[in-house]
Amino acid sequence: MDKKTMLIDKLIDVYQGEKDQIRVFASPGRVNLIGEHTDYNGGYVLPAALDMNSYVAVRPRNDRIIRMMATDLGYIVEVSLDDLEPAKKLKWGNYQAGVAHELMQHGYKLTGCDMICHDEVPLGSGLSSSAAIEVVTALALLGAADTKFGTCTDIDMVEIALIGQKSENNFVGVSCGIMDQFSSAMGKKDKVIFLDCKDLSYELIPLKMAGHKLVITNTNKKRSLGAVKYNERRSQCDLALAILKKDLPNINFLGEVSLEDFEKYGKNITDPILYKRARHVITEDYRVLLSVEALRKDDLTGFGELMNQSHDSLRDDYEVTGDELDALYEIALTIPGVLGSRMTGAGFGGCTVSLVKEDKIEDFTKVIKEQYKARIGYDCTVYTATIGDGGREL
Ligand code: GLA
Repeated sequence: MDKKTMLIDKLIDVYQGEKDQIRVFASPGRVNLIGEHTDYNGGYVLPAALDMNSYVAVRPRNDRIIRMMATDLGYIVEVSLDDLEPAKKLKWGNYQAGVAHELMQHGYKLTGCDMICHDEVPLGSGLSSSAAIEVVTALALLGAADTKFGTCTDIDMVEIALIGQKSENNFVGVSCGIMDQFSSAMGKKDKVIFLDCKDLSYELIPLKMAGHKLVITNTNKKRSLGAVKYNERRSQCDLALAILKKDLPNINFLGEVSLEDFEKYGKNITDPILYKRARHVITEDYRVLLSVEALRKDDLTGFGELMNQSHDSLRDDYEVTGDELDALYEIALTIPGVLGSRMTGAGFGGCTVSLVKEDKIEDFTKVIKEQYKARIGYDCTVYTATIGDGGREL
């Protein structure tokens, strides 16, 4: 049975009533190819939407109540559009409530609704399950409220991404950047998104893999983005920026500092930790530009090398990898047919992405699974990534 039918049946099963007004929306997780921890520094990123989605089936109600249930949850959560504040404390449903809150802050008129939510993106794995939930929830809430809104082409998907990010910043309390929500809203099949987070200008670049595939390996180490460490990295960048601003008064982001200027003025950041954080961001930003050039020239070997440099910098300068991600990275680089590998997402657990020759994926999977288990003590999970479309109605 296809997802749409399954979710419509589930909605009727849980809430009873008629099928007529039910609509089903989907929005994906993402894999970031390169450009990590650059988004909130006004830098470049190179993510792509995955064909793993978060889904919502929705049916409007005549009151101001939102009822929601996840397919793997088994109980219904109820919130009122007129009093969303208490929903901040929900164990499940806080993301959805945050999106409703932020949509209304942006002037959207919402109505109550019944929702069934279904997630395919592994939660807390660094593949941006949260952004997928935020974007799909925004589409579903708008879809329930406005019967004229038929396809996702007549709404501003960049605004939807910003609303998703704001809801996570303000309602959930994670100071995430825009990369994940942008990828989930704006992704296109077989394209990577070359996004400048300073002004949200972007280009969709065809991903030509010439006999290679992106392989995602999940450490299966549970990590929460809410982790203080993410917000801590952000503040360290702000401190480094404030120091550089003394010599470069016109910059507003670390992403605006050239390698040459960093050579000249970087030494004024005397705290070694802050210096390393800034060095990661500034060199990583440059690696994104080099990666785009390499991909345009079909130079996968060059791109693979940049992936490795990115991981090294995230391990040594930004210090967000940890034993599990480093194990996956190190093992990957010993396997024939691997052109490059790196952690993807926030780090502290989560996934790596590796560029692997297609006919070597079987060997890759076998070796990485065996050696990771031997080294870390539990299993990793391997997926071959397919690049899919962004948020849409099914
Ligand atoms: C998380 C955040 C993003 C970005 C990455 C690191 O996925 O949600 O905004 O900062 O970490 O690149």
